[in-house]
Amino acid sequence: MKIGAYALPNAVFVAPMAGITDRPFRRIARRFGAALAVSEMVSSRPELRESRKTRLRLDHAGEAGPVSVQIAGSDPQMLADAARFNVDLGADIIDINMGCPAKKVCNVAAGSALLQNEALVASIVASVVAAVDVPVTVKIRTGPSPERRNAVRIARLVESAGAQMLAIHGRTRACMFEGRAEYDTIAEVKARIAIPVIANGDISTPEEARRVLELTGADGVMIGRAAQGRPWLFREIVHYLACGERLAPPSARERGAVLVEHLDGLYDLYGDEQGARVARKHIGWAVRELPGGEGLRSAVNAIGAARGQRAAVNDYFERLAA
Ligand SMILES: Cc1cc2nc3c(=O)[nH]c(=O)nc-3n(C[C@H](O)[C@H](O)[C@H](O)COP(=O)(O)O)c2cc1C
Repeated sequence: MKIGAYALPNAVFVAPMAGITDRPFRRIARRFGAALAVSEMVSSRPELRESRKTRLRLDHAGEAGPVSVQIAGSDPQMLADAARFNVDLGADIIDINMGCPAKKVCNVAAGSALLQNEALVASIVASVVAAVDVPVTVKIRTGPSPERRNAVRIARLVESAGAQMLAIHGRTRACMFEGRAEYDTIAEVKARIAIPVIANGDISTPEEARRVLELTGADGVMIGRAAQGRPWLFREIVHYLACGERLAPPSARERGAVLVEHLDGLYDLYGDEQGARVARKHIGWAVRELPGGEGLRSAVNAIGAARGQRAAVNDYFERLAA
């Protein structure tokens, strides 16, 4: 599959998740074979560029290309400026967030709130495409609400405005994360546009990935929550789609090594104190189904220092491997 000039090795993507898919997460997901890992969204508002949070989100040091940066906002000119700014900082692809239902984004009528204003969607995409000479991609939901599933119209506008790929989460904005994602609308979109379509929503196993590809005819799949605590899911899906067989699950030793690598990346990016705080949720996800995992989770919640946290995780996995 290609996005602009970038030929990707497969069609399994990491879904952008603010607060989760930071550089350490993306690096590990890419190492496990994900073809592309879109960054957490960054606001298009220039006054936020200097905030520590935005600075950390804009740090792509050591990241394998192509680097795809997601921008969020509602003003076409501001989004165009943000796209230019991020390309100057190393973005190879600009992704526009029209899929996030979070209040913080939607209060300024950005994210999935844009889906109710089709003219604005077209204007935003055209403006960003004109501003940069890298590929522009868009992520949407299926519409503002189940009564107004306008994804096909939005997809056509997005394609006509020059976007080179469209990712669709099979829920409407009003659905938030409730119910199950539906794939009929994604199939309809795929049938109506020529640019690559990536299906997203509730894919958590290699078999589900294949089923969604078959149901929708989509060019690829995008995985979010199911990869929390199990980044090797990308390796499993890529292998299954290529060979039709399941890989053996990772050993306790490998799980431990991956988690420690993740923790080291978090301490490095955020500093020891914040890094240890950010790490807690990842540790919880990584051990949630493992024997004694709950005990480790409670223990690390009581440890403030990175060194102690890392040691507790190491000890736990050494005992598990033994
Ligand atoms: C914690 C969290 C943060 C998210 N942040 C973003 C974001 O920044 N941009 C975006 O387009 N979607 C965001 N999403 C939506 C995901 O990219 C994805 O569309 C959604 O989780 C459905 O896919 P999944 O079922 O594989 O998780 C977020 C989802 C979660 C759970």
